[in-house]
Order: sequence, then structure tokens, then C-alpha cells
Amino acid sequence: MAKLNKGNYSANADGEQERLELQAEYLRDFDLKVFTQALDRFSIYPSFGLDLGCSRGYATFNRFSEFSSFKRVSGIDIDSISLDYAAKRAENEQISYRFRQASLEGEAFAEVLAEELSSITEPVFVWSAFVFHFFSDPVSVLKVIREGLPKGSVIAIRTIDDSTPIVHPNPNRLLERVALRDYSSPHDLSRRIHARKLTEQLQAAGFENVEMVSETILSSGMDAQEKEEMRLIWFSFYRQVALRMAEEFENSQRETFLRDYDQIVEEQKAIFQRDDFFMFANLFAGIASV
Ligand SMILES: C[S@@+](CC[C@H](N)C(=O)[O-])C[C@H]1O[C@@H](n2cnc3c(N)ncnc32)[C@H](O)[C@@H]1O
Repeated sequence: MAKLNKGNYSANADGEQERLELQAEYLRDFDLKVFTQALDRFSIYPSFGLDLGCSRGYATFNRFSEFSSFKRVSGIDIDSISLDYAAKRAENEQISYRFRQASLEGEAFAEVLAEELSSITEPVFVWSAFVFHFFSDPVSVLKVIREGLPKGSVIAIRTIDDSTPIVHPNPNRLLERVALRDYSSPHDLSRRIHARKLTEQLQAAGFENVEMVSETILSSGMDAQEKEEMRLIWFSFYRQVALRMAEEFENSQRETFLRDYDQIVEEQKAIFQRDDFFMFANLFAGIASV
């Protein structure tokens, strides 16, 4: 079974699922605002919803279930481990959502979409959170989706723009080296600022009435736990990058590198708790119609 291991990202790396779960909880209000805005485009609320790149369903279950019109929801992801979790959760909680494995970038995706929509004639709602920035050719993927959807369908895509600067005491520039590794190829650099390209990509794929929804999260006013959660959501996944970098060292150097990295992360935790600490993060989603 295929597992996602794209460049520097692995959905099943240590801690990444916990981070995704926290992130989904954190972004729920924003997502529900996006859902509401997107669903307002329908004259009759849709009964079929698709979540593309659903992972374990952290941003599936408690989004779609808020809108009673959805009678059928399908989640699609490339990662079989995540899908098994999602399916088990649906079974345990007696939720009728279905999950299936496919690559959105794969040649067979048009067929998968056609199968999912085979008995559907009315417009549908398509949701995708933090997935499209991974693709080297998002417009092609969007075109396949647009061509497969019934007229009047609406897509909403939450994506990233990670240009958040934070100031840090940084011995040996270790954090920078790890962060820069994640930005080291033109594609990685480009995916980190995907939100600012989404409007054009949706238009290039033939979607109509494209709008962006955004919100800025400020650390000021947050309590200690909220600040720690902000740190975990935006920075903890760099540890999988550090682990990958560590593989390039000899044993003893590897241990030192990871020990130093973990030490700096401890300092980072403390910095986030300082009264003079400030960070903001921007959330973005694009909504468009067929
Ligand atoms: C950062 S996670 C986001 C998961 C979920 N949407 C959320 O917001 O919690 C990215 C997801 O996209 C999936 N993914 C990446 N490339 C994919 C592809 N080509 N086809 C289908 N899913 C893909 C990964 O397996 C992973 O579950």
C-alpha cells in the first residue's frame, strides 16, 4: 500500500499525526466560516461532500457534520495508514462517511472522481485542507477536479502561506539550517507560499467566482497553553526535517546534532512563553465554483 513520503514531509512521522489533530482543532472555527461561506453559494445545500487529502479525518468529521444537508461524505487520501484510522473512527462512531485511497495527482484520479460521483446529479461540495501546496502541478489536479464536478459545485481549499518571521537566540544557526532545509528546493520554497498563488491557479483551472477568505492569528492575549499549541502547530514538524538531516551524519555527530536541536526546541518553548514574545500566522482558503 502506498504511503506518503513527499520530499521533506511524511504524514506518519513521529508526532505529525498529533500535530495534525491539534491543527485541525485549532483551525475549526476558521474552517467552519469557510464552509458557511462556500455553502451559501448553493441554492439548495449539497448532500454530497468530498474531502480531498483527508488524512485521518481530523478536518473531515467535525466540519461536515456541522451541516445536516450532507448525507454522504467521502474522504480521499494517498496514505493508507491514515485512511485505516479514519475508516475505523467512522465505524466506531457509526458515521456513514467513506474513505478510499487514491492519489489526486495520479492518472486514475479522474476515474476515481467519476466513480464517487456516479449516482450524483446535483452540485457537490469539495473540501481540501493543507494538501494542494504539496503538488508540483496544482493546476492540472484542479482541472481534473473541475472537469469531473457537476455544474454549480463549489470547492474550498485551505492552504498555507508560511512567511512568519520569529526572532530567536539561535546557536550555530541550527533552527535556520533545519528550516532552510525545508525550503531548499524551488518546489519546497514555492509550496510554503502557496496561498498567494491559489486565486490564479483556480482561475487557470477554469473555476469561476474565485474568492479568498483569510484570518490572522495573533499570539498576543494568548494564555500559556495557547502559545504552546501555536508553537507545536507551526514548528513541531521541523523535527522530522531535523531527523532526516541527522541521517546524513556519522553516529556520534548525529546524536550531537539531535541533542542540540532538541535543546534549542526547549529554548523555543520558553521563548514562546515570554511576555515580549509576538507571532502572527495567516490562515487562507480559496472558494470557487464550477
Ligand atoms: C498536511 S496533511 C493535511 C490533512 C488534513 N486535510 C488536515 O487538514 O488535517 C496532507 C494530507 O495530504 C495527503 N496527500 C498528499 N499528497 C496526496 C496526493 N497526491 N493524493 C492524495 N492525498 C495526498 C497526505 O497523505 C496527507 O494526509
